Amino acid sequence: MSTKVLKEVLVTKTEIQSLCLKLAKEIEQDYQDKEPAIFLGLLKGCHPFMTDLIRHINLTLEVDYMDVSSFFGAVKSQGEVQIIKDMTASVKNRDIIIVEDIVDSGRTIKKVKELLEFRGAKSVEIVTLIDKPSGRTVDLAAKYIGTEVPNAFIIGYGLDYKEYYRNLEEIGIPRDEIIKEHDEK
Ligand code: IMP
Ligand code: MG
Repeated sequence: MSTKVLKEVLVTKTEIQSLCLKLAKEIEQDYQDKEPAIFLGLLKGCHPFMTDLIRHINLTLEVDYMDVSSFFGAVKSQGEVQIIKDMTASVKNRDIIIVEDIVDSGRTIKKVKELLEFRGAKSVEIVTLIDKPSGRTVDLAAKYIGTEVPNAFIIGYGLDYKEYYRNLEEIGIPRDEIIKEHDEK
């Protein structure tokens, strides 16, 4: 399906898997004394990454999810961050790792991090498969980064355009026709 949808592949299926393994081993090393940490996925984009990341982590851990939005279906990040679904676990005195598909402007994750700190988390770190540093509008850095991409809108492996293409096995830049097709609807 990727070849029909992407004009350029930026991260292949094999690269994604080796990045997941690399990140899992870094976290495993750092969290030996912090069991059980909470892996907090930001829906919906984190979904494939969360699955592939945690299965390589040889520690006792908890998984939770939050759905926050700063995107409202558009290509560019805009507006305030809105909590659509809150997590279920209590974060008080817990070590949290926020699991993100991509950090772009950084605003969404910065707000979530501040919220978790306000709720009394012991520590809050970020793991992101993709970092887009050129998009940054706030001062925020993820501790664990899979890879960096240039300033382009990308889809696949959790990343969507108007809720489509999260199921692509590769990550890349969509063909212009794909964007046009959904814009016309
Ligand atoms: P940020 O707040 O700008 O860092 O990004 C918030 C969210 O926007 C990310 O978690 C993604 O879900 C989404 N996003 C940012 N850049 C892209 C992209 O290039 N493609 C698809 N979704 C993106
Ligand atoms: Mg996201």
